[in-house]
Amino acid sequence: MASDAHPPGAPIRPPSDRDRDKTEPGNLWGRRDLVTRVGWAGVLGTLFVSFGGFARLLFRRAPVEPPTVFVAGSPADYRPGTVSDRFLRQWRVFIVRDDSKVFAVYGKCSHLGCTPRWDGRADRFKCPCHGSGFTSQGVNFEGPAPRPLERARVWLDRSGQLRVDVGTRFAQANWEAEGASVELGPGSGEIT
Ligand code: FES
Repeated sequence: MASDAHPPGAPIRPPSDRDRDKTEPGNLWGRRDLVTRVGWAGVLGTLFVSFGGFARLLFRRAPVEPPTVFVAGSPADYRPGTVSDRFLRQWRVFIVRDDSKVFAVYGKCSHLGCTPRWDGRADRFKCPCHGSGFTSQGVNFEGPAPRPLERARVWLDRSGQLRVDVGTRFAQANWEAEGASVELGPGSGEIT
């Protein structure tokens, strides 16, 4: 039968720190064990945090740009000589139809950027901030606005619907450019 008794004549080994720690009442682990475990916990914690940061870098999503293109219906939805503000709240554009074309006036005053309103009785856009006025074509004619309103890109898709891109706009110098308006003569609409 095994015994813890010290064999006679064998040198007596003094108890180590580890032995002493374990024999102290209420000390579950030795001091060295505890230090080792704390050390490993620190290393693992550091690795975990580093890996988390690396994973976030790998899977970081690109900022999502809001859409800029919307369907504005058929040209037939707009009577000649009218200005529609049905998309003003959501897209900040007026759809204008004159005798031969449709275009989209972007509702941002060229003075300080307020949103003009369409005044059908006076046949003009009127800016509520400092009183600038613009014709139905978007040309400034009163108040401090230094230049006309811009127009958003507009075209007809394959199903004959008007599409407007508020992210692409034309200053007055480019109002005759492709995309600044849709001609409504036979076979003259832009098809994409
Ligand atoms: S912002 Fe329109 S007139 Fe000043």
